[in-house]
Amino acid sequence: MAENRTPIVIGSDHAAYALKEKIKAFLIERSIDVEDVGCYSEDSVDYPDVGIKVASMVSSGKFEQGILMCGTGIGMSMVANKFPHVRAALCADIFSAIMSRRHNNSNILVLGGRVIGDILAMEIVKVWLETPFDGGRHQRRLEKFDQINKDFTNKT
Ligand code: RB5
Repeated sequence: MAENRTPIVIGSDHAAYALKEKIKAFLIERSIDVEDVGCYSEDSVDYPDVGIKVASMVSSGKFEQGILMCGTGIGMSMVANKFPHVRAALCADIFSAIMSRRHNNSNILVLGGRVIGDILAMEIVKVWLETPFDGGRHQRRLEKFDQINKDFTNKT
């Protein structure tokens, strides 16, 4: 895995707290700077509160990439994808993780702590971090995402 890469912001709710701690250790072991926005125990929290923190930090450009985790990953991906410039990919397999980088330039990886095991989760994180965006025709397609936000802004 590439060293000296940009820092990663991570967050989870209680359902994926244990996975978040493992992912954090996995990143730190690889000399990747990690900003952990919570949660900090298995006490129940509302996943949107954490999802909003991570997604807003990626949306603003403060962090290039983030990782979000909840029980299924579904709630976190729903929240994150409401933010402009966020392309959150819920991945439960290696192929999707690779393609979410190559074709979708995903900037937030979402994992379901109650869906996948720790070893698969680490492998998914590894390939997601290592895989570059293909660009080209995929860039043109991603630019169409931004148009959605512009269209909504113009209507309100
Ligand atoms: C928490 O019980 C659970 O709803 C949450 O972790 C997540 O799976 C939501 O999508």
